[in-house]
Amino acid sequence: MTSILHLDSSPRGDRSHSRQLGKKFVVEWQKLHPEDIITYRDLRTSPIPHITEEWIAANYTLLESQTPEMLQTLQLSNELVDEFLASDRCIFSIPMYNFSIPSSFKAYIDYIVRVNRTFAIKGDEFQGLVKNKKIVFITARGDKYSAGSPHEGWDAQEPSLRYAFQFIGVTDIQFIHAEGLDLGSKLREQGLLAAKSEIEKLVGNW
Ligand SMILES: Cc1cc2nc3c(=O)[nH]c(=O)nc-3n(C[C@H](O)[C@H](O)[C@H](O)COP(=O)(O)O)c2cc1C
Repeated sequence: MTSILHLDSSPRGDRSHSRQLGKKFVVEWQKLHPEDIITYRDLRTSPIPHITEEWIAANYTLLESQTPEMLQTLQLSNELVDEFLASDRCIFSIPMYNFSIPSSFKAYIDYIVRVNRTFAIKGDEFQGLVKNKKIVFITARGDKYSAGSPHEGWDAQEPSLRYAFQFIGVTDIQFIHAEGLDLGSKLREQGLLAAKSEIEKLVGNW
C-alpha cells in the first residue's frame, strides 16, 4: 500500500487545467491501485501565508530551545512537513505564472524546506534528508516552451521545482507539461491531449 499526497495549487476552480489533469492522474492511478491512500491538499481553499521574520527566527532556533510562541509560529509548517514526509509519492498540479510557479506553491516550498527536518547543514555542506519519494509535477501553461517555440529557454518553472526538491533529497522527479493552453482552441486541445496521453503512460510505469 502506497501513501500519496495530491496537491492542487491553481487559484482557479473547475476551469483549471492543472487541476483537471492532476485529477485524471489520480483517477487513473486509483483504477490500478485502489488500496492506496490519497491525501488531498488544496492551496486555493487552504492558502499558506508568506514566511515572516518570526517564522525564520523560529525555524533557525534549535528544537530544544524553541519557545511555545515559536512552536505556534511553526505549527502549520510542521504539519505540512509531516504530511509531505509521510507520503511515498506526490502528485503536484501547478500552473505556470510569469515563467515560474504561482506564489501559492512557492509558499508551500518555503514551508517544507526546513532545516533539520527536510535538509541538514553539515559543516559547509547542505544535505537533503528526504529519502524514497517520487514526485510528479503536472503543469499547465498558456504558451509553449518546447524546442523551436518562440519562448524556448524561458521556462524557469521546471528548474526551480527541480532544484528545490533535489535540494531536500528527492531524486525521482517527473514532469508532465500541458502547453499552449492559451493559444486558441486548436492548440489547447492538442496540448491537453498530449498531456493526457503522457499521464496514461506514466501511471502504468510510476
Ligand atoms: C497571473 C498569470 C500569469 C501567467 N503567466 C504565464 C506565463 O508566464 N507563461 C505561460 O505560458 N502562461 C502563463 N499564464 C497562463 C497560465 O499558465 C494558463 O492559463 C494555465 O492554464 C493556468 O493554469 P490553470 O488552468 O491550472 O489555472 C499566466 C496566467 C496567469 C493568470
